[in-house]
Amino acid sequence: MTQEQDRYGVDDIDLEQPNPARMYDYYLGGAHNFQADRTLAEQAIQVMPWMREAVRANRAFLARAVRFCVSQGIRQFLDLGSGIPTVGNVHEVAQGLAPESRIAYVDIEPVAYAHSKHLLRDNPNATVTRADLTVPQDVLTAPAVLEMIDFSQPVAVLAVAVLHFLPDERHPERVLGAYRDVVVPGSYVVMSHVTSDHNPEQAAGALAVYKRSANPVHTRSHAEISAMLDGLELIPPGLVDATQWHHDHTPELTEKTEHVGFYAAVARRD
Ligand SMILES: C[S@@+](CC[C@H](N)C(=O)[O-])C[C@H]1O[C@@H](n2cnc3c(N)ncnc32)[C@H](O)[C@@H]1O
Repeated sequence: MTQEQDRYGVDDIDLEQPNPARMYDYYLGGAHNFQADRTLAEQAIQVMPWMREAVRANRAFLARAVRFCVSQGIRQFLDLGSGIPTVGNVHEVAQGLAPESRIAYVDIEPVAYAHSKHLLRDNPNATVTRADLTVPQDVLTAPAVLEMIDFSQPVAVLAVAVLHFLPDERHPERVLGAYRDVVVPGSYVVMSHVTSDHNPEQAAGALAVYKRSANPVHTRSHAEISAMLDGLELIPPGLVDATQWHHDHTPELTEKTEHVGFYAAVARRD
């Protein structure tokens, strides 16, 4: 085992291959990233100088969306592609408002899994599962998911900043649809997804950089992302730039971040 593999207690961390989960941690100022991740992340920042603002805006949307779900009575959260824990995780936001909230985190990346497990070791109401969200039957039958989530009750399914890692041939709309179809009416889907609608040149540059990572990114248009939410009732203001969804003048907003390149929405299953 390398020193890093030893640190995280998992033996399949690829230190040479930059990983978007760890690049995202780097943008947010986290400590769970390696040299290869930092080098590629810096290249992405070169072509998209507001990358850090964009990911901060995405995280801020995530927190506002969780607060909204709690305000609607939701007490169970299934967070798909939950990432490397950083400040303002779903359990911190939800349990801060409603301590009985239960959270099942799911991520495929070994550092995200290992660090989440460590962080949650004393939290009886949150678990993490290492699984591929594109195989819903694995996620939906995982013991640590079923320990937290009672699918006979409303649940918020989060797919935040993750579906753009799925190419069209992996059918992100069908993947999300599989989760939508198992939750009961009164449940919510929280989603954000990158777009090149507003900054096509910078987005193209960033996509080229991400092609060198373990998970290339696929931007999609407003219409394509909207289609993923078919069969659900969009909560106003609908699918909008992440900064605009229940905009509350949080500090991540600056004039430059009017369009951060993330579309975001919360939708209800009726
Ligand atoms: C950009 S991070 C987003 C983290 C968090 N949802 C947020 O918005 O702050 C995307 C995460 O999705 C995970 N991921 C990508 N593809 C996945 C898959 N097929 N199954 C599970 N997790 C996946 C990555 O490992 C990464 O941690």
